[in-house]
Amino acid sequence: MNIDLVDQDLYRRDGAPHDQLAWLRANSPVHWHQGDAEREWPGFWAVTKHADVVQVSRRSDLFSSSRKLALFNEVPEDQRALQRLMMLNQDPPEHTRRRSLVNRGFTPRMMGALEGHIRDICHELVDEAKGRGSVDFVRDIAAPLPLYVICELLGAPVEDRDKIFNWSNQMIGAEDPDYAADPSEGPNAAMEVYAYANALAAERRQHPREDIVTKLIMPDAAGETLTEEEFDLFVLLLVVAGNETTRNAASGGMLAFFEHPEQWRRLVGDPALARTAADEIVRWVSPVNLFRRTATADTTIGGQEVKEDDKIVVFYSSANRDEDVFADPGTFDIGRDPNPHIGFGGGGAHFCLGNHLAKLELRVLFEVLAERLPNLAQAGPARRLRSNFINGIKDLPVTLA
Ligand code: HEM
Repeated sequence: MNIDLVDQDLYRRDGAPHDQLAWLRANSPVHWHQGDAEREWPGFWAVTKHADVVQVSRRSDLFSSSRKLALFNEVPEDQRALQRLMMLNQDPPEHTRRRSLVNRGFTPRMMGALEGHIRDICHELVDEAKGRGSVDFVRDIAAPLPLYVICELLGAPVEDRDKIFNWSNQMIGAEDPDYAADPSEGPNAAMEVYAYANALAAERRQHPREDIVTKLIMPDAAGETLTEEEFDLFVLLLVVAGNETTRNAASGGMLAFFEHPEQWRRLVGDPALARTAADEIVRWVSPVNLFRRTATADTTIGGQEVKEDDKIVVFYSSANRDEDVFADPGTFDIGRDPNPHIGFGGGGAHFCLGNHLAKLELRVLFEVLAERLPNLAQAGPARRLRSNFINGIKDLPVTLA
């Protein structure tokens, strides 16, 4: 089978990437993917089984997030220092300190307190859409929801929402000409977010509020605090990690309902199913397709020897359809319970900080949609994002009547 997992257009082909990933799980579960001297990337081990992805994710000592930063191409020298300060690119014990400082802002209690606000936003979005009759589900519902929630978390003024939205698109969609005219827009947008966060923190130092930003810039009980730079980078991470992922989960979930109308009827009949549906959507869509690590020593993954400094890429999208873990993995079943998907990561130090928040947003959104828009229907083809990293949908026309 011809497999190019680096192809930015992979997701836009019929059946892909699941045909390729299923073949790898069956025939070469820890697969050496050749590099390409011309495109200047060195090759990597593609890890596709659930158990192996979990092993790699939980052993930060053997599989580092800080060594060799990039997924495929190397990160340009001038961006490396900044990237290394980002939590996602660190290993314990350095990562542990930062993670515990930011965990203070993301406790289940703090996230739960947002439920009413999230419900209000969902109703507002539905009210606006209803006034028009037909809308683009991505632009009008799936995209504004997480964006408004992140802005709320940051205490950013309403008039800044569009600006933050565009930066986020440019960073993630740097490979897609609809979002960024040229790939250098990504790093430029990142610098804008960085400066924005800096100004936000400066303002809160002067005028503290009862919000997450204030909490994060204040010392914890042990007197530890995020440095200015760490805080700015954390905001950058939030804008990327919390925004696009949830948007794509919501759009991909809606598309899954259109493709499985019996599941939509089930949800409309019993909106309380939105709780298990949220997990099934994350399993089915796997909005983050993959992540990378680097081996810190000669070791084995699923019996395959790998060498120190080899790049390892874990495919959540594959693990989430692993026949050894899920009964009928190719069936979208909103009542699936238990659902040990690893769409938020395979556990360990970097497990998604926003997983409670993302699930809350998805649950409330689909409850509200099932209650208020039971006749939602697809009105045109979904267009997919050009990316091998993010499983994204750019537009999904719908009618509401
Ligand atoms: C990390 C997925 C929503 C913040 C991650 C990772 C994945 C992921 C796969 C990496 C795990 C690893 O390397 O082991 C998702 C998905 C989401 C989602 C599928 C939506 C459906 C969010 C939200 C936020 C968020 C809403 C914040 C508001 C983060 C952060 C990290 C992270 C800060 C880095 C954690 C660390 O390095 O310690 N997420 N995420 N994510 N996510 Fe999410």
